[in-house]
Amino acid sequence: MRAHDVKEILIDKDAIARRVDELVDAIAAASPSGNLVVIGILKGSFMFLADLLRSFHRHGVHPRIDFLTLSSYGSGTTSAGQVETIHDIREDIEGADVLLVDDILDTGLTLASTKKLLLERGAKTVRSCVLLDKKAHRSVEFEADHAGFAIADHFVVGYGLDYNNLYRELPHIAKVTFHD
Ligand code: IMP
Ligand code: MG
Repeated sequence: MRAHDVKEILIDKDAIARRVDELVDAIAAASPSGNLVVIGILKGSFMFLADLLRSFHRHGVHPRIDFLTLSSYGSGTTSAGQVETIHDIREDIEGADVLLVDDILDTGLTLASTKKLLLERGAKTVRSCVLLDKKAHRSVEFEADHAGFAIADHFVVGYGLDYNNLYRELPHIAKVTFHD
């Protein structure tokens, strides 16, 4: 692991909480479905997903919930370019309106390939929600239906996001500063 620190806070926890509520208002307005399945992409989405779902409660929305464990990074800060399924969903999504939740949209490979897979499996619609959007870093064309914050192209951790599986527990988003 490279020498680094995570002292610079980019988005604090209050700003995240406010944005999560706004995202859920938009999601509830856009998905009138009684057959909604929310799928969190692990591990990065766990904290964001939990906060989104608690906020769903305000709208009386009762989605089914499942998880998909994927790996595209291995270790380090650059995508391996290939998305591997480590643990698949168990819910039947045939005819369902799916909301995919991920921590960050970077190259776009993860969400583009997952959306395609779920549509092939018979989902009626697949929408996506990410906390962060690194717009400058796409290698495939993909836009999230709901995005919390657009950020510049630097490596961030916290609120579920990791560097070598560390710092996921931080309640805010911090920038990783490398010293080398
Ligand atoms: P994509 O397939 O390149 O869009 O990558 C999405 C995945 O890359 C996310 O779910 C994260 O796990 C990981 N990722 C991308 N950028 C960052 C970052 O700045 N910090 C931590 N993880 C990241
Ligand atoms: Mg991830």
